[in-house]
Amino acid sequence: MSNNDIFESLKIKYKPLFVGTEKSKLYFYSTNPSLDFLLESKKKKIFVTDQTIFNLELLKPFFNNFKKESDKSTGGTDYSVYSCDKHGLVVIPAGEKYKTMDSVLSIVKTALDFNLTRKDMFTAIGGGVLTDITAFAASIYKRGASCEFVPTTLLAMVDAAIGGKTGCDFDDYKNIVGAFFPAKSLYIYPVLIQSLPEKEFISGFAEAIKTAMLFDRKCYEYIKANKDKILARNPDVLCKIITFCAKAKAKVVEKDLSEKNIRMLLNFGHTFGHALESRAGLGVLTHGECVAWGIARALKASVLLGLCSESYYNDAVETLKSFGYETSAVHPAYSDSKEILKTMHNDKKNSSSYVRLILQKEVCKNVITETTEDIILEALK
Ligand SMILES: NC(=O)c1ccc[n+]([C@@H]2O[C@H](COP(=O)([O-])OP(=O)(O)OC[C@H]3O[C@@H](n4cnc5c(N)ncnc54)[C@H](O)[C@@H]3O)[C@@H](O)[C@H]2O)c1
Repeated sequence: MSNNDIFESLKIKYKPLFVGTEKSKLYFYSTNPSLDFLLESKKKKIFVTDQTIFNLELLKPFFNNFKKESDKSTGGTDYSVYSCDKHGLVVIPAGEKYKTMDSVLSIVKTALDFNLTRKDMFTAIGGGVLTDITAFAASIYKRGASCEFVPTTLLAMVDAAIGGKTGCDFDDYKNIVGAFFPAKSLYIYPVLIQSLPEKEFISGFAEAIKTAMLFDRKCYEYIKANKDKILARNPDVLCKIITFCAKAKAKVVEKDLSEKNIRMLLNFGHTFGHALESRAGLGVLTHGECVAWGIARALKASVLLGLCSESYYNDAVETLKSFGYETSAVHPAYSDSKEILKTMHNDKKNSSSYVRLILQKEVCKNVITETTEDIILEALK
């Protein structure tokens, strides 16, 4: 059929879909979480959390409002359902292993059982896994309900909960199914970070270093100067860094929600990092460990391309090492650079035979560039 066969054409203009997803409000609290206010709502809510968070001391007063209804299963996910007045609560097992369609469907099923309408609310209380799957469930429930988050990990507070990327893993691909669907409100209680296992804390902190390196020299210097306090989880220092990083990410997604331009910068360290994460075997290394390693590799590529100086590269590598991140070109967990390169090509953000990388000339001087394979292999030596 050629264009000549068209006898009429018509353009339909739409108002933005999903009223309520056009803005997110972020609230930062210096106190212990007291979440009962979330129950005082005209809307029905489905709360979603995982087993670990359900048992956290700081959140017990809130979860004690709920009484158990039943244990259920959707394919690969066993979950428990609780209720409190008109609201429901889904508790799934913890971890990336449960970032699946089955878990998403367990949320949808519970929403149906509690007769939620499209005007009602899905509330995630948890880390990035929970915020991603809960918002995804909200986005597909009756073609779009609303969602709100109480992020409980450092990674979720500074990154995952902000900016509307939602989804789940499928068929060994990370985040391959999903939608852009921002939360209406975020309630951020940095004190929740105190109970995070060290591994999760360090993983989340890599995203904070990344944000500082991309957007604020002062914050990068602040991080370097306060290493010991950060590692000791000094509340004041962490509150400062969380607020800064959340604001920096908010500014970026406000300008470019659907990642057409400036949001791509947030992938600094991620193209190398994702490749290592999946090659080492999903779950072997944390996301943050891989991002930190990826930042070191991206800066090495920047040096090789003559973009940045050896001294900036060395300074950044020393900073990453001082927080315990592995930065050697050949990572002890996976050493086949050709396979890493192959995986970098498969990254869903790459569209050509070159690999798109986020590089730096120096702190905050960011460059998006298509990089050739020989540079990447050299950065992995
Ligand atoms: N949407 C986005 O823009 C975006 C950005 C970055 C990462 N992500 C996603 O985020 C996920 C990783 O998030 P994460 O690191 O928060 O992992 P997570 O949600 O799996 O949480 C990590 C672990 O910490 C536990 N936990 C959570 N809060 C706790 C607390 N306060 N105290 C003690 N334990 C606690 C959880 O039960 C879990 O076992 C990945 O799936 C990644 O793809 C999304």
